[in-house]
Amino acid sequence: TKVFVPRDMAAKSVGADEVAERIAAAARTAGAEVELVRNGSRGMLWLEPMIEVETPEGRAGYGPVAPEDVDGLVAAGMLTGGAHSEGPYLGLVEELPWMKRQQRLTFARVGVVDPRSIDDYTAAEGFAGLKKALTMTPAEVVEEVVDSGLRGRGGAGFPTGIKWRTVLGAESDLKFVCCNADEGDSGTFADRMLIEGDPFVLIEGMTIAAYAVGATEGYVYLRSEYPDAVEALNAAIVTCRDNGWLGEDILGSGLSFDLQVRVGAGAYICGEETSMLESLEGKRGMVRAKPPIPALEGLFGKPTVVNNVLSLATIPTILANGAAAYAAYGVGRSLGTSVFQLGGNVARGGVVETAFGITLGELVNDLGGGSASGRPVRAVQVGGPLGAYLPVGQFDLPMDYEAFAAAGAMVGHGGIVVFDESVDMAAMARFAFAFCAEESCGKCTPCRVGAVRGVETIDRIVAGDDRRKNLVVLDDLCDLMTDGSLCAMGGLTPLPVRSAVRHFGEDFNV
Ligand code: NAI
Ligand code: SF4
Repeated sequence: TKVFVPRDMAAKSVGADEVAERIAAAARTAGAEVELVRNGSRGMLWLEPMIEVETPEGRAGYGPVAPEDVDGLVAAGMLTGGAHSEGPYLGLVEELPWMKRQQRLTFARVGVVDPRSIDDYTAAEGFAGLKKALTMTPAEVVEEVVDSGLRGRGGAGFPTGIKWRTVLGAESDLKFVCCNADEGDSGTFADRMLIEGDPFVLIEGMTIAAYAVGATEGYVYLRSEYPDAVEALNAAIVTCRDNGWLGEDILGSGLSFDLQVRVGAGAYICGEETSMLESLEGKRGMVRAKPPIPALEGLFGKPTVVNNVLSLATIPTILANGAAAYAAYGVGRSLGTSVFQLGGNVARGGVVETAFGITLGELVNDLGGGSASGRPVRAVQVGGPLGAYLPVGQFDLPMDYEAFAAAGAMVGHGGIVVFDESVDMAAMARFAFAFCAEESCGKCTPCRVGAVRGVETIDRIVAGDDRRKNLVVLDDLCDLMTDGSLCAMGGLTPLPVRSAVRHFGEDFNV
């Protein structure tokens, strides 16, 4: 029997390793033949550690399973497809409402396969996208990505294919593909889960990108807070090299591409693409002025594709199944699926991949089950620490780049952090400035100084000190930071601040 226990960091943090050990020991004692697979997480984090047992009907789930539950479950027949009446039994995993509600394209294999097994990967359509791409010209691959409508999943939503077209068209003896895995947004963890749960798909996506634009070297800039992802990706890179999927003359196609992992050192700003490039070059992570854009002058001044993990990991399915199949999902100009992450004060936190167009309320209430505390939800912050706070009155908003922009918000990297009625929104607005002051690279004045002035101004407003005048100062400061900052760090900090004042004015004594 195959038994799956996630090796995902979130599952391990609640005891998955110990559960796996107990299962192995119980199987030995019972004389049961068990193949223990350490898969990624299915994303239902409130059920972790979640065990799955292969049965003729499908994979049966149990969760959350504490180490001390294991012996009882094994005694009740869990390893032989029984134990269905036991407490943590969930039913067939694929039939769970959380799973059925999703369209998993980017995350198709996460939680399903053994992330260390290249055979598992190839058996589950792995490398089909790369094989297809190698039958096309680079320009055709680029146009396929343009036609899919894929937009940058790091947060800005710039069309991936158009970016690639720029790099393809740039004349250079050397080009790079850089994957931004410096997932710094609060409430986001999809990049981590993908790398831990299906690292080969990222390598495949980067190799397709390299072929499409004519790059020979790739780097993954991975944050140091994700040691398991670093280890998983490095292991997958070695396996790919050993099997001819990376290196010289891949599959006899003439394509040569290899990639390396570089580990960040904990600065939020190194997720900004030019800062990331500086850091990759061995310098301090300071933002570069744009233009020139990295597509033309990126790493070491050479044309460079910089894409987020999720963008690159979506490329293989687009190539394997065609642009039209991908673009059939979604709404308006937000095509395909996106990976949303539910966190904060939410009953059922985790990762959900659905077509764009699902509403914020459906995600928070139907999938997330409302707040974890049981108290009414008051606000959600979408798109990380630079994203807007939205009140429950805006739960009808569809997850769609344009709809969010029109509402003064952003989808960003898809993180949704939930707060119940006990939240103090003035404190959250203050935090936005404090975060910016802490993480600012210091290159431009509106951000470096503005963030500090912002904290002081909020403190004065809350203290009731010349409130009316200070609200005007706050507004001016937000205008200045929006218009005058060199990058999104200072430029977007006004978003959470203004949304907090607009929607939750009572917390500022307005
Ligand atoms: P941006 O709009 O300046 O650029 C988006 C991308 O398009 C960049 O890669 C840029 O080089 C490229 N680009 C722009 N014009 C181009 C052209 N003509 N040809 C080719 N490429 C072109 O946005 P930026 O500053 O890169 O990102 C801001 C976003 O980052 C925010 O909206 C936020 O959602 C997100 N973010 C994500 C975080 C995460 O952890 N994933 C953390 C912080 C912010
Ligand atoms: Fe640096 Fe802030 Fe200016 Fe960005 S906005 S360049 S983080 S000082």
